[in-house]
Amino acid sequence: MATNITWHPGLTRHERFAARKQRGLTIWLTGLSASGKSTVATALEQHLLHLGLAAYRLDGDNVRFGLCRDLGFSEADRNENIRRVAEVAKLFADSAAVAITSFISPYRQDRKVARELHASATQGGGDDDPIPFVEVYVDVPIEVAEQRDPKGLYKKARAGEIKEFTGISAPYEAPESPEITIKTHESSVEECVAQIVKYLQDKNLLT
Ligand code: PPS
Repeated sequence: MATNITWHPGLTRHERFAARKQRGLTIWLTGLSASGKSTVATALEQHLLHLGLAAYRLDGDNVRFGLCRDLGFSEADRNENIRRVAEVAKLFADSAAVAITSFISPYRQDRKVARELHASATQGGGDDDPIPFVEVYVDVPIEVAEQRDPKGLYKKARAGEIKEFTGISAPYEAPESPEITIKTHESSVEECVAQIVKYLQDKNLLT
């Protein structure tokens, strides 16, 4: 971090959530490539928007066209990718929106860092409400993901044309205690969205 910087206090998150009559939160989807993260995240965003809530989806492929265009798929680059995305999701949630992220985010430690960033009630020295962080494991066997292979990436990875491909030549560390687990090979997209929305309603997070 740079030196000679000072946090400028402004409105609190508490004030912002009250004024917008919406609590910001982050819904963090994690899972293999082709597990269905982006499809479920898009349907969830649409559902929440139709409920009249502010929601915004941050997607792995898309973010790598801009904010993270300098990053590849080494472990260090994925660490940095997830760190940046966690910071951006937190900003969206801080503005009283539902941030929905769909990134492979294969490392437990990176997801822990993202969760801890949201849990911190302290912003630059001032106390504020923590931001809810809901981890959603998109749990699909690699055989299913590989059979789907919508972008032909598994085929290329098997042929050695893509290095460090998650599940083939790079690790995927499944969550140990996610708030929600969805299985897109057993449930429809609508059912998965309904499962997530029910959790959010039960926890009074969609207020
Ligand atoms: S990560 O691990 O969270 O930093 O990855 P993410 O930013 O979500 O990007 C995943 C998408 O990048 C494409 N792609 C790869 N995925 C995994 N491993 C390798 N080596 C790789 N190379 C390219 C792929 O389209 C992923 O998108 P999804 O939607 O997950 O299939």
